[in-house]
Amino acid sequence: MRPIAAPTPMTRFRRMRRTPALRSLVQETVLSVSDLIWPVFVREGVNVREPIASMPGVERLSVDQVVKAAEEAAGLGIPAICLFPYIDPALKTEVCEEAWNPDNLANRAIKAIKASVPEIAVMTDVALDPYNASGHDGLVCDGVVLNDETVEALVRMTLVQADCGADIIGPSDMMDGRIGAIRSALESAGHKDVAILSYAAKYVSAFYRPFRDAVATSGALKDDKKTYQMNPANSGEALRLVERDLREGADMVMVKPGMPYLDICWRVKETFGAPTYAYQVSGEYAMIQSAAERGWIDGEKAMMESLLGFKRAGCDGVLTYFAPAAARKLRESRIWG
Ligand code: PBG
Repeated sequence: MRPIAAPTPMTRFRRMRRTPALRSLVQETVLSVSDLIWPVFVREGVNVREPIASMPGVERLSVDQVVKAAEEAAGLGIPAICLFPYIDPALKTEVCEEAWNPDNLANRAIKAIKASVPEIAVMTDVALDPYNASGHDGLVCDGVVLNDETVEALVRMTLVQADCGADIIGPSDMMDGRIGAIRSALESAGHKDVAILSYAAKYVSAFYRPFRDAVATSGALKDDKKTYQMNPANSGEALRLVERDLREGADMVMVKPGMPYLDICWRVKETFGAPTYAYQVSGEYAMIQSAAERGWIDGEKAMMESLLGFKRAGCDGVLTYFAPAAARKLRESRIWG
């Protein structure tokens, strides 16, 4: 593409910015409710909604409340909800066996949502951190996060989630070879239509901190995740990881975090054209919300601008804690005006 403009005054860019109607005619990117995936936190109990201090406006929900949230999301037209469990510390072990317990909190939530709101897609988290005494995403032996043993555990975890009715499996662990192992296991187990959204390019990030509070892994984690999550300095490596995961059978790929990594989103979409998602993570959400609470920025406008930025960067969709607020905002707005 080679954009051509006559010299001023023959071209005046402001002509097409004069009114809402003219601006909407030349708008290149749109955000739609169908671009949103809503991550929610699940906890034990009945009728419980527990605020998360470092994520103003986000709550941990008991399973009955998660079902209500799924109903609300479906009513707003949000296509998918993604579940993250807040696990009782007493259930965290070195073997992480709670991760593949068919009646664990996350799996009960999948079943409850699919029973009441079958039309919404349920996405899961596949990683061991909520169940791991060490707080790591993988099994740890002598201080080393084991790759292949972890992949076996992730496969067990996935198959149980698929049995419970999960529509989209979300491996967020960054072990090597897990997409191929998960895809083969799903095929052999008769779950050929269960999709995989791979956290393909997931970086080591300070922006995960509020999430770790929300799922109570920050206390357990004593060191960092640098041996498996990506170095924020790298970009070519992200392309190699995405290519690898697509070749292993991922249906969709993700870049995470979102806002500091829009260049990666763009390169991934331009290079492979596969369905590409960004995760606007907890720290990004917390930054916008906390500045808005202080009156330093207009939170609603910052929310919409940040989400549109993902679309402009080539993403097909965004995992965002803003999903219901953004969906409501999109419902109010006309096409232009
Ligand atoms: C861990 C996981 C993390 C997030 C999703 N899954 C954090 C981490 O890697 O420690 C972060 C999401 C967020 O910050 O919103 N498997």
